[in-house]
Amino acid sequence: MSTDRRKFIKHLGASVLLTSATLNSLAAKEENELRILSAEKRVGPNDKIRIATIGMGIMGFADTRAALTVPGVELAACCDLYKGRLDRAKELYGSSLFTTGDHREILARKDIDAVIIATSDNWHSQIAIDAMRSGKAVYSEKPMVHQISQGLAEIKAQQETKMVFQVGSQRVSSIAYKKAKELYEAGAIGKINSIEASFNRQSALGAWQYTIPFDASPQTVDWARFQSNAKLKYDYDSKRFFRWRNYREYGTGVAGDLFVHLLSGIHFITGSKGPERIYSIGDLAYWKDGRNVPDVMSAVIHYGETKEHPAFQVTLRVNFISGEGDHSTTKIVGSEGVMDLMGDDNFSIRKNKMPVATGIGGWDSLSTFTEAQQKALMDDYNKRFSQADQQQPTLPGESYRAPEGYNASNDHFANFFDSIRTGKPVVEDAVFGFRAAAPCLACNDSYFENKVIKWNAEEMKIV
Ligand SMILES: NC(=O)c1ccc[n+]([C@@H]2O[C@H](COP(=O)([O-])OP(=O)(O)OC[C@H]3O[C@@H](n4cnc5c(N)ncnc54)[C@H](O)[C@@H]3O)[C@@H](O)[C@H]2O)c1
Repeated sequence: MSTDRRKFIKHLGASVLLTSATLNSLAAKEENELRILSAEKRVGPNDKIRIATIGMGIMGFADTRAALTVPGVELAACCDLYKGRLDRAKELYGSSLFTTGDHREILARKDIDAVIIATSDNWHSQIAIDAMRSGKAVYSEKPMVHQISQGLAEIKAQQETKMVFQVGSQRVSSIAYKKAKELYEAGAIGKINSIEASFNRQSALGAWQYTIPFDASPQTVDWARFQSNAKLKYDYDSKRFFRWRNYREYGTGVAGDLFVHLLSGIHFITGSKGPERIYSIGDLAYWKDGRNVPDVMSAVIHYGETKEHPAFQVTLRVNFISGEGDHSTTKIVGSEGVMDLMGDDNFSIRKNKMPVATGIGGWDSLSTFTEAQQKALMDDYNKRFSQADQQQPTLPGESYRAPEGYNASNDHFANFFDSIRTGKPVVEDAVFGFRAAAPCLACNDSYFENKVIKWNAEEMKIV
């Protein structure tokens, strides 16, 4: 049996188990199975998709693993600026794997169809544009860009080259998010008016103090290339290389790193193109390790009324020293309920609807009036409202959890490769990716410049 066939059967088996156990969305279930079945038809020995991963760090390895769960996908090459990670890639994927420290060598290869870009944020945009212009499909990690000013050029490159391009905010491919969107659109929580979303963490690793290898040095790290697109240049510093998220020169702070997951999910569910006003505040409360970005940040963001949705407010927060422990939530509040999304794969809905009657008595002025007034008012109230109208309706809630072992990244990659094979649109294209990233990057601008940022979501421009 061919490797592809084996992989397919494994994939299908996992899916049947997964879907029959707990999937309570028929639509999502059918779609999931349909995708896998159509993948079987299309994946033959001669139409393998050969990929290369550029940026072989934590996410590069994780993305590669997820990509290779899709039948017919093969790893051809890896690129990284630290030698140890290229050696590790060979340990895992075989000594004949092509490895390089220069992404242009990957792009020059004719045998590579698609690249995964999982570098530090400062390189996403340039490599993505280079890759599309070299005829490669691109899966770019989030945030799509390091600076708002890079977005339109990247969208233009995609539109000109017509290469398949997807941003890596995997929750938009999650079956849980698909189900949540379905229920939201069916009116499960009434008319939306506000959203609170956050990431709370309480650990050194959660606050990006990742392990640095003993052999880190200018001999094993291409430091010059790493910082070549930064305005401010520094002497070699292992912390800046291996913990780049802590420095604005290479990362995008908690806003670009984590708010972007929250806004991607929010835009996906509400169908929004983005907000119109953004304000944020930040503090460096605990992790004073030389970083130049806040470890606690809050943003208030206003979404105006559009044809896709009514006006609503979003508050976002990341807290890296939270006594609440590790916890992430997106709470979408509507006039008749609240949808609480936890992580990428489960959510619950609680419904609360006002009674028809306006209410009288209890915490009210009624008891402050004379007995005669109270009686007259109560008689009048009971005449105007039936007993049923005076009751608060009790509406059943809902909860949904993706099956054990479900991984949204696998589905996000399946969507990406489906698009390469069939031409069907990706789930998270460059316009969606930029519309999610830009307001997050505007949170940084708001914090560093202490001002409200106005954003034109339609045209994707700062006002
Ligand atoms: N989708 C998600 O859930 C998710 C989760 C984690 C990280 N990410 C994203 O993945 C990206 C990588 O994060 P990470 O945690 O893996 O970081 P990391 O530091 O572990 O790995 C980044 C790697 O990129 C390499 N690199 C940097 N510039 C390069 C260049 N010009 N050419 C080739 N290689 C280059 C570095 O050598 C490093 O090994 C980030 O943009 C991050 O936002 C996404």
